[in-house]
Amino acid sequence: MKNRFWWILFFSLLLLTVHAEDNDDDSNDSATDSSSDATTDPSITETPSSVDSDSEPSTSMPSSSATDIPSPATPASPPAISNVPGLAANQTLNQQQLDQLKISCSALQQWYTTLGGPQWLDSTGWTNNDMTSCCSWAKVYCNPVGGVIRITLIGNNLAGSIPSTFQSFPHLVHLDMSYNNLTGGIPDSIAAGLAIQTLNFNFNQLSGLLPASLGSMPVLASIHLANNTFNGTIPDSWANLPLLKTLDLSNNKLSGPFPTSIANYRSLVSLSLSSNAFTGSLPHNIGIMPSLKSLVSKNQLTGPIPESLGNITALVTISMRSQSLNGQIPSSLGNLPNLQVLDLTRNNLTGSIPPQLGNLVHLRNLRLSRNALDGAVPAELGLCGQLQILTLNYNALSGTFPSIVAPPALAFCHMQPNSFDACPPNDVSMNYSSMAFQCSVNCTSAKHKKSEGISVSSNSPFLLTVFMAILALIVQEAIHVIL
Ligand SMILES: *[C@@H]1O[C@H](CO)[C@@H](O)[C@H](O)[C@H]1NC(C)=O
Ligand SMILES: *[C@@H]1O[C@H](CO)[C@@H](O)[C@H](O)[C@H]1NC(C)=O
Ligand SMILES: *[C@@H]1O[C@H](CO)[C@@H](O)[C@H](O)[C@H]1NC(C)=O
Ligand SMILES: *[C@@H]1O[C@H](CO)[C@@H](O)[C@H](O)[C@H]1NC(C)=O
Ligand SMILES: *[C@@H]1O[C@H](CO)[C@@H](O)[C@H](O)[C@H]1NC(C)=O
Ligand SMILES: *[C@@H]1O[C@H](CO)[C@@H](O)[C@H](O)[C@H]1NC(C)=O
Ligand SMILES: *[C@@H]1O[C@H](CO)[C@@H](O)[C@H](O)[C@H]1NC(C)=O
Ligand SMILES: *[C@@H]1O[C@H](CO)[C@@H](O)[C@H](O)[C@H]1NC(C)=O
Ligand SMILES: *[C@@H]1O[C@H](CO)[C@@H](O)[C@H](O)[C@H]1NC(C)=O
Repeated sequence: MKNRFWWILFFSLLLLTVHAEDNDDDSNDSATDSSSDATTDPSITETPSSVDSDSEPSTSMPSSSATDIPSPATPASPPAISNVPGLAANQTLNQQQLDQLKISCSALQQWYTTLGGPQWLDSTGWTNNDMTSCCSWAKVYCNPVGGVIRITLIGNNLAGSIPSTFQSFPHLVHLDMSYNNLTGGIPDSIAAGLAIQTLNFNFNQLSGLLPASLGSMPVLASIHLANNTFNGTIPDSWANLPLLKTLDLSNNKLSGPFPTSIANYRSLVSLSLSSNAFTGSLPHNIGIMPSLKSLVSKNQLTGPIPESLGNITALVTISMRSQSLNGQIPSSLGNLPNLQVLDLTRNNLTGSIPPQLGNLVHLRNLRLSRNALDGAVPAELGLCGQLQILTLNYNALSGTFPSIVAPPALAFCHMQPNSFDACPPNDVSMNYSSMAFQCSVNCTSAKHKKSEGISVSSNSPFLLTVFMAILALIVQEAIHVIL
């Protein structure tokens, strides 16, 4: 213990850095410091002054490979400090790592000031004056050598605008400030966070245009900006993001033609553009995105569903509700071996349901209601063995409803209204396991239509009138004869 103390003190003096924590005898400093500004402990007030001289923010770029989590100190440079709050007790930082940590902690404390820190639900540690202590602050996570790598201030009652000090966080990988009251735009300077992989600002009140600068962030993989009020369109520069996997822009005010550059997002796995005001049609070449698993769009799209969608074999979810898509459902969708959700509710689709959909053995949710589909229900739908939800109501489907067994998991099925001409025979439509029974197919109206020739008179005012007229004539004739 003693030895280690002198060892540390020696190197500290050598580097002309007297650090507060070395004067304590190795005890629980991070916790005892947290009472912050009120404290009069001289060892603490000493920290900022002795530190400031070597913390020029602009010289912070640590290494050539900024995107890597820094490896521990090079063997040549001696350890500068140990026992940094929030890091393992035996962890040592070199001077460069320590300087960077101080820059990051100072920037974070500025965030606390500009984002309404006193109102935060959890701000444990954030008022600590020790600018090496932020690895121990609530929602801040460091790598073993004091690089701030994650900040997750989710639902913490933050208010104000996103700070623009991202050059202070060269190791930051994951920033999540979702579910707060952030306002204003996203500063272009966010792109200085060169290691950022995930940005999450879902559910705030951010507005303005989407920042083009995001397109220059080398390792950005995930953008979540749902439920804000961004307007304009998606910057073309975003198509340059080589690693972008998730793009969620749902519930904003984005508009203009559906961005055709989307087709160039070669690594995209999940695309959600729901509840915006994009117009125009889906790019016909959308099928060249090889990794796309989820395509969700509720906008004002028109035009047909591109045949090329059937080439994206990774697709699991296609959801394009409540728009004005028209044309036929491409039979190529039957080529999607992993498809689980196909939701095209409330569009203007015409033609018949492609029997190829019966190839979708993993399909769980098929919603085609409120379109203008006609033709018969293909019996092949009975082959979708995983189907749980099936809605075909509010279409113009006709023909005889197929005599098929309902998939065993089918739990929710809407078939009416449609224009079926006939139900399956009674032994099928009264059988609990049949699709007709499970979907409560109503053939009453059809029976009416069929029996029209026989019992029409009862509700045909015209024929009734003619009948009455003839009867009157006969009666009149009879009276005439009698008299
Ligand atoms: C620091 O002190 C607090 C309060 O005395 C205690 O609960 C905590 O376990 C201590 N932490 C360490 C790392 O010793
Ligand atoms: C710190 O100690 C832990 C175990 O307490 C050990 O696993 C780790 O390797 C040590 N780290 C260093 C840098 O010595
Ligand atoms: C946002 O601000 C409003 C009004 O000031 C408040 O009612 C609401 O709770 C805040 N929401 C969050 C997530 O902080
Ligand atoms: C998200 O935004 C949409 C549209 O602005 C709104 O209808 C919805 O209620 C929001 N969701 C939540 C959970 O606030
Ligand atoms: C975005 O909204 C702002 C403020 O409402 C408005 O001034 C601006 O013209 C809009 N921009 C676009 C492209 O819609
Ligand atoms: C789908 O892929 C095949 C083979 O790569 C290609 O020949 C075809 O043109 C593509 N279809 C569409 C509609 O893009
Ligand atoms: C649907 O298509 C019909 C015929 O093409 C057209 O008259 C109608 O306006 C369309 N409805 C919508 C909502 O686009
Ligand atoms: C109902 O249909 C199933 C499947 O076709 C069949 O196995 C079963 O025997 C039928 N039940 C009755 C009572 O007809
Ligand atoms: C079946 O359809 C007819 C005509 O549309 C309607 O009057 C009747 O109430 C429906 N029956 C059921 C059980 O839904």
